[in-house]
Amino acid sequence: MPDKGMIVEDAFAKINLALHVTGQRDDGYHLLDMLVTFARHGDRLEFSTADKDSFEMSGRFGAALGDAGADNLVIRARDRLRDAVLQAGADAPPVHIHLQKKLPIASGIGGGSADAAATLRGLSRLWNISLPASVLDEIALGLGADVPMCLHSTPLIARGIGELIEPVADMPQFAMVLANPLKGVSTPEVFRRLGTKTNPPLSTGRAAHWLDTIRLMRNDLEPPARALLPEIGEISAMLAEQGADLVRMSGSGATCFGLFQSFELAEAAAVMLHRQRPDWYFQATETIPGENMDGEEHGRS
Ligand code: C5P
Repeated sequence: MPDKGMIVEDAFAKINLALHVTGQRDDGYHLLDMLVTFARHGDRLEFSTADKDSFEMSGRFGAALGDAGADNLVIRARDRLRDAVLQAGADAPPVHIHLQKKLPIASGIGGGSADAAATLRGLSRLWNISLPASVLDEIALGLGADVPMCLHSTPLIARGIGELIEPVADMPQFAMVLANPLKGVSTPEVFRRLGTKTNPPLSTGRAAHWLDTIRLMRNDLEPPARALLPEIGEISAMLAEQGADLVRMSGSGATCFGLFQSFELAEAAAVMLHRQRPDWYFQATETIPGENMDGEEHGRS
């Protein structure tokens, strides 16, 4: 079979700018209101045609993943997409997938979900097939609640458990430092420790500046996660000391982020933070702006 060349897809880190827990479903899953954006920094996946299916991992966090987690999600994404492609009467030949794992695992920034979504995007390109968006969304949701939003990888509001998605076209680009103490918190344990499960939803009103809008929002999972892992408080204080305009935790933790006025300031902060704790994870990055906001960074004022 002729090699169609290698396809590369970035799996952008998912950042919960806010996460409000608004209720609980009968099956125990919590209802969430989330304001989400995506960092340009993320994992990288390569796809190429091969004689038989294979999967390889590398990168700073590749070894930590072992045989569990995102690799299974990548493989499950490959298999489910292939089923759908075959059902549509098209070809889905064997593929070699290389995952460069640059994001800390199980850390509240959707690494595994982003990898699964990138697999759906990458293999659709490699196999040269364009399934209807509704079919892809359904496959994505079957892989995990965060996978549909990662498929979009543009700013959005997600409701339900993450499946009801509304783009936020006027979200600016933010300069950001991602920070993680490289210790895990258990997502079910964080949810279990929630004080109240019926909190106010995301407000529909907007302040003049996005930063002020986001400041008025919360991550309801942050207090229980901080109680479980004091390093979350510690790393948040370090981000604030470096002059971040806003510091918050993403998802159920333990990754926190700081928003900065410019990428240069974010980079300088990441260098200082790395000097303070070389054993922790600090990464300067920029977020992907909404489609009406091409590359504009949020300003002070
Ligand atoms: O989605 P994920 O597999 O990370 O979820 C892990 C656990 O977190 C779930 O089994 C559930 O206990 C809890 N959870 C929840 N409500 C959500 C998402 C996760 O209660 N919306």
